[in-house]
Amino acid sequence: MTRMPAPPPSEGDDNRGARRRGWERGVGPRTHALVERDAEVFLRQSLSTPCLSAVVRAEGAWIEDADGRRLLDFHGNSCHHVGYGHPRVLRAISDQLASLPFAPRRFTCEPAVALAEKLVALAPAGLDRVLLAPSGSDAVEIALRIARAATGRFKTLSFWDAFHGAGLGASSVGGEALFRSGPVGPLVPGAEHVAPFACYRCPYGHAAGEDAAPWERCRLACARMIRFALEREGDFAAVVAEPTRAVPYLPPPGFWREVRDACDATGTLLVFDEIPTGLGKTGRMFACEHEGVTPDVLVLGKALGGAVLPIAATLCRAGLDVGAAWAFGHYTHEKNPVTARAALEVLRVIEDEGLVENARRQGARALARLHAIAGRIPAVGDVRGRGLLLGVELVTSRAQRTPDREGAEAVLYAALARGLSFKVTMGNVLTLSPPLTVTDAELDHGLDLLEAALVDACGTEPLP
Ligand SMILES: Cc1ncc(COP(=O)(O)O)c(C=O)c1O
Repeated sequence: MTRMPAPPPSEGDDNRGARRRGWERGVGPRTHALVERDAEVFLRQSLSTPCLSAVVRAEGAWIEDADGRRLLDFHGNSCHHVGYGHPRVLRAISDQLASLPFAPRRFTCEPAVALAEKLVALAPAGLDRVLLAPSGSDAVEIALRIARAATGRFKTLSFWDAFHGAGLGASSVGGEALFRSGPVGPLVPGAEHVAPFACYRCPYGHAAGEDAAPWERCRLACARMIRFALEREGDFAAVVAEPTRAVPYLPPPGFWREVRDACDATGTLLVFDEIPTGLGKTGRMFACEHEGVTPDVLVLGKALGGAVLPIAATLCRAGLDVGAAWAFGHYTHEKNPVTARAALEVLRVIEDEGLVENARRQGARALARLHAIAGRIPAVGDVRGRGLLLGVELVTSRAQRTPDREGAEAVLYAALARGLSFKVTMGNVLTLSPPLTVTDAELDHGLDLLEAALVDACGTEPLP
């Protein structure tokens, strides 16, 4: 058996190790013991091990470790839209467990049908067929199979730096080396990539200035590159992408209109992965609604299961119902009544509690506050986001936009020590994803903790 050499240590690893050890020293004994047992039994993998901490309770926007230490969770894997342990979701699950806990394949059940009907009612007009799946990655695979079968083509165009799931097909359309390179061997053929929209760090070199609307100067080079590729090859089955990138990066105005037109002109399907952004996160039920563009296939997951159970869904036009003779979503838990009932209740809670509206309102408050923080902390190079998907990009030079990866790591640990959890994306973007139930007080408290952590780690002095 050939073993891959370990990746070389990267710059700053020593400091990172020291920071991590510092955090570990602050973790209580019960939490530490559980993290140690985890390390003894689980296979190691990047991004998952070693664990940061251990959780014994999750409620609303909060998680609690085994020593009673509480963290405000602005991460939640973008699953906790309705907050952890929403009483209505838990009650729906226990009622369902008591009445019908499972449906063998080929038997339908009321919760699965009701969920599919509800998804169709909520989705952009025209997306009226559904398959359910046990994970986002599986739902992406269904989308890929639909695109292949409907077009008779197999090639996909997607973004470098994207994540679409851990399966082999999903990692092939994904664009992160961590999931594509190394020992996994050849990926799915025909998975081609293009640089994504990323106005603060435009891969086409257009956003070096301070203009408010760089796309007026670049004339959407990133969208035109997609049209170029689709037209040159003429045989792509689908463009697969997140309409708002979860980093986050917002698409420049008109980007998706241009890509939609290019897809239509070349017979290519447009697949939107809204696994993290769907169900209200960005202040609309679906992020694509901000763009006025409807995809041919829409993929949902994560929050659909209410941060309790795993469930995802692929929606498409009735005209793409082309797999009757095949089995695109042949999963054991295809119409599981318990996961479906949980998802149905999540959708009702999002509507009944006005959570999309709350995401919009709290997101606007958070953005205003983050801009004020950027005014005080020179290491904040950019603040962006929509609804409750927010990003704070750290730099060592605002003029050069040099990513400050060490700074981001230091802020992460400083925030954890103060009681706030979030994720760092692309090495230097603090990605904040509070639940849609977040209250004024929780949001303000979280941003107070973030500001204090930024002051601790980056200071307020001008950058050198
Ligand atoms: C954009 C996107 N697509 C797909 C997935 C995969 O979902 P799952 O982990 O449920 O397979 C994720 C998960 O993080 C995601 O963020």
